[in-house]
Amino acid sequence: MKDKTIAKMFDTSYRSKPKPALVENFGSCAKIHVNQILENNSKSVLDVGMGAGGILLALQNQGVERVIGVELSHEGVELAKERFELYGDITRANFYEGSFLDYYPEKVDAVSLHQVLHCHPDFRGMINKSLESSPQIIINTMPRNNWYVKLLLGFISVFTMLFKNGFRAYVHSPKEVESILSKQNYLKIFSENTFLWETSVFKLNTINKS
Ligand SMILES: C[S@@+](CC[C@H](N)C(=O)[O-])C[C@H]1O[C@@H](n2cnc3c(N)ncnc32)[C@H](O)[C@@H]1O
Repeated sequence: MKDKTIAKMFDTSYRSKPKPALVENFGSCAKIHVNQILENNSKSVLDVGMGAGGILLALQNQGVERVIGVELSHEGVELAKERFELYGDITRANFYEGSFLDYYPEKVDAVSLHQVLHCHPDFRGMINKSLESSPQIIINTMPRNNWYVKLLLGFISVFTMLFKNGFRAYVHSPKEVESILSKQNYLKIFSENTFLWETSVFKLNTINKS
């Protein structure tokens, strides 16, 4: 039920014409996702809550060999497919329509969670599911956990719950995300804040713990 509400809320925003993915037009957090994935030489990428697939298309255009997108919204998946047909290589892309929590994991080099955790109540489940793909890096952009972000998302939630099918946004704790990942031996190697968002990059520590 919760997933249907989220999908419905986002379906409308993906009813548009397919466009190429130009990194220069991306927001600053999405640019970080693209740059970090490329700098870490990731050859395969899973984007959770990919929306219309912009980050994945940009990555494929810049040489990433295998891209996988998971998205609840049917319209988002359809638009992503159209974009890859027109501006990318759809034969090297895979899309899964449904909840990430039901996704059957496949090994990838990088997992990207760009502005998705706040859309779902079960952020721990989403992080644990990301770990099942055994990535070298996990990049996450989520709302900062401070009073003005909570206030703003609270107002937005009241509006969307009243007028947009009952959807609400969640402020989960970036510290808790870090704690779950550090217990699985992922180190935070980069973090940057904008007014609303915190973007963090976690890398698997391959040096054995003594
Ligand atoms: C704010 S949008 C961000 C979309 C995209 N990452 C971007 O930055 O353009 C959040 C997206 O996550 C999707 N989403 C939320 N929970 C999800 C879940 N459990 N599984 C798959 N997709 C999910 C929503 O449908 C929505 O398209």
